[in-house]
Amino acid sequence: MGLILCQWAKYLGATVVGTVSSEQKAEQAKKAGAEHVVVHSEGDFVKKILEVTNGEGCPVVYESIGKDTFRRSMDCLQPMGMLAAYGHASGAPDPVDVVELGMKGSLFLTRPAIMHYMAKREDLISSANDLFNVIEKGVLKSNVNHTYPLSEVGKAHRAIENRKTTGATVLIP
Ligand SMILES: NC(=O)c1ccc[n+]([C@@H]2O[C@H](COP(=O)([O-])OP(=O)(O)OC[C@H]3O[C@@H](n4cnc5c(N)ncnc54)[C@H](OP(=O)(O)O)[C@@H]3O)[C@@H](O)[C@H]2O)c1
Repeated sequence: MGLILCQWAKYLGATVVGTVSSEQKAEQAKKAGAEHVVVHSEGDFVKKILEVTNGEGCPVVYESIGKDTFRRSMDCLQPMGMLAAYGHASGAPDPVDVVELGMKGSLFLTRPAIMHYMAKREDLISSANDLFNVIEKGVLKSNVNHTYPLSEVGKAHRAIENRKTTGATVLIP
């Protein structure tokens, strides 16, 4: 998701700031179009993100880590910014106090899930067309970085759980 977001958001004209856990992943995020990349294991990512946005913060944060990063992701937003919390790899985030959304700058918070956005057939077709369109234009490159025989599905799961993968992991039947 991170690599797709970098490529597509850059194409749409956004300045993309990525957060990753290692230098190796930082290189991949840069190649995918992130203008700034923060290695979050190397210190306070909120401070670094405020630095690269001249103290303004981001208009939108796509947050998929959950518990470990949710509140800090909220602190990276500018007033009236949007936190799109689309996953929680480190566990469900703590509950949010609605008053805090106001105090931190009239923030918007959403928890989008693909099944709602694709519930109607026409929405599925329109989104699929958008996706294939950017793939055909060469904007989005598929990153199948790992393949496993189906019989080794356990290994594939362990690699994903241990954050050893990048891009897509494909099982070969
Ligand atoms: N809402 C929806 O409809 C929807 C649809 C598809 C996927 N998702 C969610 O989107 C997220 C990304 O999916 P994906 O396919 O891109 O997964 P992925 O390839 O496994 O990437 C997840 C990344 O999150 C980071 N991460 C994992 N655990 C972490 C932790 N405890 N602390 C900090 N960072 C951690 C890792 O990057 P680093 O090692 O660099 O930190 C990892 O590469 C998942 O949470 C998934 O459930 C949501």
